[in-house]
Amino acid sequence: MADKFRVGFIGVGRPWRTEGATGFGMAYSHAAGYAKLPDCELVACADISEENAKAFAEKFSVPATYTDYNQMLAEEKLDVVSICTWPHLHARMVIDSAKAGVRAIHCEKPMAVTWGEALSMARCCEERGVQLTFNHQRRFLEPFQRAKKLLKDGLIGQMKRIEGACDNIYDWGTHWLDMFFFFNDETPPEWVIAQIDARRERKVFGVPLENQAVVDFQFTNGVRGLLQTGDGADVGYANRLVGSEG
Ligand SMILES: NC(=O)c1ccc[n+]([C@@H]2O[C@H](COP(=O)([O-])OP(=O)(O)OC[C@H]3O[C@@H](n4cnc5c(N)ncnc54)[C@H](O)[C@@H]3O)[C@@H](O)[C@H]2O)c1
Repeated sequence: MADKFRVGFIGVGRPWRTEGATGFGMAYSHAAGYAKLPDCELVACADISEENAKAFAEKFSVPATYTDYNQMLAEEKLDVVSICTWPHLHARMVIDSAKAGVRAIHCEKPMAVTWGEALSMARCCEERGVQLTFNHQRRFLEPFQRAKKLLKDGLIGQMKRIEGACDNIYDWGTHWLDMFFFFNDETPPEWVIAQIDARRERKVFGVPLENQAVVDFQFTNGVRGLLQTGDGADVGYANRLVGSEG
């Protein structure tokens, strides 16, 4: 057992659409993943809701529960932490976990509420050699893996353009931005021109969102892109890849 990675969870929720759920209970998906890995051991979870922590611990046979995540970090000597709380808590929890000596942090998307928070999380982990990842899981799903393979196999020739459409940039668009990087081999962007319409108040997890947006951009390898969001933006496709031959 000593050679296994000790995994802990911050914010566990309840499974989506079950009694007491406040959201999607993403920690349940994370735990199901770790449980399949022979070198991981689920050792502790923390949630301000003791009932949620206990229910999660029972489901995944997690031996220790906490209502204070900092106490868990201090006592459990964790190698890996999954952070599955709401976005405004991500920065503080990532930084506390890194400072407590955790070696890898897998945090839910979206990364943070502000650019400044995102930078401080990344810097803190970089300085300490902590691996920091975010749960943009779509790139691992079969339809997207297949699309990437067809692209690599030259089905549409050389990629010229990537498009995405969804409800909003921050909560949903973060997945499509990740997919753009996935399809374009992690190439950095060269420029972005964007405009949002935020006339009506609209929030997700307390964070203000646009009503609609147009995001035009180009990557350093010349691939051009477009993300459209808001009412009516969803025109029935997730991502559209346009190449020199189709
Ligand atoms: N990757 C995806 O496809 C996907 C899908 C849905 C949600 N999410 C993201 O997952 C994150 C969590 O959303 P959710 O719907 O799973 O939430 P949830 O409401 O199901 O669970 C959040 C849990 O965090 C706990 N919590 C709150 N403050 C805490 C604190 N200080 N310490 C410890 N626990 C605390 C709450 O009590 C709750 O049990 C969000 O960032 C959301 O955007 C990602």
